[in-house]
Amino acid sequence: MEEPSDFDYHYFDDPKALGYQGYSRKPYGEKVIEPWETAVVFCKEQEVASAVDVGCAKGFLVEGLLAEGIDAVGYDISDYALSFAKGPCYKHDLRDGIPDSREAIIALGVLMYLNEDEARHVLSDIYRAAGRFFLFSAHYEGVDQEVPDPLRLITRSRKWWNKQIENVGFHLFREEEYFDAYAK
Ligand SMILES: C[S@@+](CC[C@H](N)C(=O)[O-])C[C@H]1O[C@@H](n2cnc3c(N)ncnc32)[C@H](O)[C@@H]1O
Repeated sequence: MEEPSDFDYHYFDDPKALGYQGYSRKPYGEKVIEPWETAVVFCKEQEVASAVDVGCAKGFLVEGLLAEGIDAVGYDISDYALSFAKGPCYKHDLRDGIPDSREAIIALGVLMYLNEDEARHVLSDIYRAAGRFFLFSAHYEGVDQEVPDPLRLITRSRKWWNKQIENVGFHLFREEEYFDAYAK
């Protein structure tokens, strides 16, 4: 099978490549609860009024946040994914900083595509941009994944990521099924 070399059609939607093979609202089979829905529920529960989704891909989470009245914006590096986004989702490379300050910064399955120095740098930028919360997930070392991930640069444990995130100033607020919530 072909290995995608970028965040393009082959990575997201090509049924014959080692990627998502169809990145849709239901990437986890028929499960009702999805990462994006639980992130929206978290924001609502915590009365988060504004959020940035970094690595927003096709903008599904941004749409979900906006539908609940949360002022949301997304950024991603992929022209292909952004071509599907209906909400305010823009092209931006995280390594150039976080363009907006919002109550919550959300990065689900994104930072492991940077190298370790870049990830630490981006985490510092996220700390500065976050008013209250940072919602984070990665594909962790030793954890089986349904989706192959040929573009990933960092394969580290959840504990390692936790340390990097706490080093920039956040503390672990709550562990959810699909992400860890950090607070300032
Ligand atoms: C595994 S997908 C996750 C997408 C979405 N956050 C989710 O939870 O389904 C990773 C996303 O990160 C984006 N990405 C990777 N490196 C990036 C960078 N340096 N700046 C901005 N976006 C990046 C990719 O284009 C892709 O859309």
